[in-house]
Amino acid sequence: MHTFSEKIIVWYNHHKRDLPWRDTKDAYHIWLSEIILQQTRVEQGRSYYEKFVKRFPTVKKLASADTEEVMKLWQGLGYYSRARNLHATARIIADKYKGKFPTDYNQILELKGIGHYTAAAIASFACDLPHAVVDGNVYRVLSRVFGIQTPIDSTEGKKEFFALANQLLNKEKSALHNQAIMEFGAMQCKPVSPDCKVCPLNHMCFALEKEQVAELPVKSKTTKVRNRYFNYIVLKHGGKTAIVKRNEKDIWKSLYDFPLIETKKEWTESQFLASAEWKSFIKKNKYSVTSVSKTYKHVLSHQHIYARFWEIKCIASLKLVAPEIAVIINEKELDKYPIPRLIDLYLSSKGN
Ligand code: ADE
Repeated sequence: MHTFSEKIIVWYNHHKRDLPWRDTKDAYHIWLSEIILQQTRVEQGRSYYEKFVKRFPTVKKLASADTEEVMKLWQGLGYYSRARNLHATARIIADKYKGKFPTDYNQILELKGIGHYTAAAIASFACDLPHAVVDGNVYRVLSRVFGIQTPIDSTEGKKEFFALANQLLNKEKSALHNQAIMEFGAMQCKPVSPDCKVCPLNHMCFALEKEQVAELPVKSKTTKVRNRYFNYIVLKHGGKTAIVKRNEKDIWKSLYDFPLIETKKEWTESQFLASAEWKSFIKKNKYSVTSVSKTYKHVLSHQHIYARFWEIKCIASLKLVAPEIAVIINEKELDKYPIPRLIDLYLSSKGN
C-alpha cells in the first residue's frame, strides 16, 4: 500500500544530506529552519540557522531581542517581512503560550507568517503529527510520478495535490516521509534534467513514460516582473553620511538605505543632474559628484531593481542637504544598521 512512501524512504536513508535541523525535535528550531529555508537554499540556510540558534537558543530569547538585532542577523536573506513576522510570532509564543511552542496543528497554523506548508512541517517534524507537506519539491514529484496536469498555482491544483500528498503520507512515519519526499524532490527529481536512469520510481513514473518530465509540473501564470530604477545618493561630508530608514509600504521596510531618487527609466548622468528631482533634493547646496557607480541589477521575486550610487561630496553640512527623514551618521557606523543586500554589495565593492 505504501510503495511510494517506502521507496522514497529507502532512497532518503541512502542519499540524505546531513542537515542540522534534522537532528532535533525542538519545534522552535524547526520553525526557524523552515522560515530561513523559505528564503534561501540549504547551503546558505545552514549558516543562518546556526547563527540564529546560537544567538537565540530559545523562543523566549528571540522574543526578548531587539527587532533591529533580529533584522541584522537576517541581513542578506532578503524579504524582511519574514524576519519581522518571525520576531512578532516569537513574542506571541512567549506571551500566549508561555514560551512553549504550540503542538496542535491549528494553533500552529494560526501563528503569523505560518501557512499550511510550514504548519505541516513543524507538526510532522517536531510532533510526528500526520500532516503532509506540500512545497515546490512535492508538487514536482507528484505531478511527474502521477501525471497530474492541473496547474499548481490554481485553487483546484492546490486542493488536488494536497489531497494526494495526504493520501500518500505514511502516517506512522510522518516526519520521515515528509523529509524524504522533499529531499527526493530537491536531490533526485530535480527541476531541470533529472537523472531518471537511477531513480527508484522510474518504473512507475508517468512523466518518464510519456516523455513529459520537462513539462511537469504545469504552472498557469508567469510571474509579472516590474523594473525599477534607483538612484542612491551617497552624501559625504567630514566622514559623515546620511541614511534613511525605509518605512513605507514597499520592499525592505525597517531596513536602512541611502536617500533615493527613483525614476521610471534609467537616466544618463546628465539627464539625472539636470532633473527637477535632483535639483529639489540638493536645493542650492554646493556639491561635487565624486563618482557614479556601475548599475547593480538586483533581482527580487517580482521586481528587478537597477541601482546606481551617486557619491556626492557636500561643501555645506549634511544637515542642510539631507531630507528630514534621513539620519546623519559616521560612515564607520554603517555596519551597525540592518541594510538590504544590495547596499551591502555596493559597500563591499568600496572595501567597507
Ligand atoms: N526545505 C525546506 N525544508 C527543508 C528541510 N527540512 N530540509 C531540507 N530542505 C528543506
